[in-house]
Amino acid sequence: MSAENKTENWLGMAGKKYAVTGAGSGIGYSIAETLLAAGARVALLDRNTEGAEKLRELYSSTGQEPVVLQCDISDPASVDQAVQGVCEAFGDLDGLVNCAGMLRPASIRDVELDEWDAVLRTNLTGYMLCSREFANLMSNGGSMVHIASVAAHHPQTHSGAYSASKAGITLLSRQIAAEYGPEGIRSNVICPGMIRTALSEPFYQQPDIKEQREAMTASRRIGAPQDIANAVTFLLSDRAGYINGAELTVDGGMETMLMDLIPRPGFTAKKSA
Ligand SMILES: NC(=O)c1ccc[n+]([C@@H]2O[C@H](COP(=O)([O-])OP(=O)(O)OC[C@H]3O[C@@H](n4cnc5c(N)ncnc54)[C@H](O)[C@@H]3O)[C@@H](O)[C@H]2O)c1
Repeated sequence: MSAENKTENWLGMAGKKYAVTGAGSGIGYSIAETLLAAGARVALLDRNTEGAEKLRELYSSTGQEPVVLQCDISDPASVDQAVQGVCEAFGDLDGLVNCAGMLRPASIRDVELDEWDAVLRTNLTGYMLCSREFANLMSNGGSMVHIASVAAHHPQTHSGAYSASKAGITLLSRQIAAEYGPEGIRSNVICPGMIRTALSEPFYQQPDIKEQREAMTASRRIGAPQDIANAVTFLLSDRAGYINGAELTVDGGMETMLMDLIPRPGFTAKKSA
């Protein structure tokens, strides 16, 4: 390893410029906070800017004050405006994190078409719009990370268009990798498992749900937004420079537990004394 590589700034994020959608809450907030802590400049996009404003205040006296932009990613005019705002603030960009997302419960039998469309419009069309518009600011190459879900791999009943939208993101990301790779822009997906945020908090308000969910993960814990932010930071960085069109599941080994859901008398692990 060369001396140059033995640096505290191992990921090389200092001075890099990123845009993060959904930066006002949960996973997006944690991603933005982690990038700022690593020395990057960050544009915080959300349709609700309250959380993003709090993060801006925290960094207001650091010389790294983030830019807050109200943006509805499902609206092309709003995305155009945000791109203009980022261009005015940073000039160009090193990467984009597509994280803003929503979940509307419904069975296929009952789902209203406008609810179905609203989820696809944010979770899939919004990701495409931000990707292609912000790519125009990545004149020296760049990196995109899209937050999908383990729901991209498995249908979840009564979740409306959520699983379909997340599965769409995984293919969208690979198409972006193939189309923009020659321009030096990488595109990768992270599929989080169970992460405790505002989006999932209602589930944890019910008795015993946390314990039942922990028992379903190999790591026996619910993920924190920071678990996703760490993986995103690596994929954005030049250390991931040859990772393109890939998908990384960050779920504490939840998907790997499928066989353990099958009752098998006599095969239960003995508790050690
Ligand atoms: N929490 C989990 O367990 C979990 C698991 C897998 C995937 N995810 C995904 O992670 C991402 C973040 O989820 P979270 O749990 O942090 O949710 P969250 O509700 O805490 O945050 C989502 C943010 O996105 C913003 N947003 C929603 N629609 C928007 C739009 N059209 N334009 C701009 N901003 C918009 C919201 O205002 C909010 O600030 C989502 O894409 C979600 O599907 C979450």
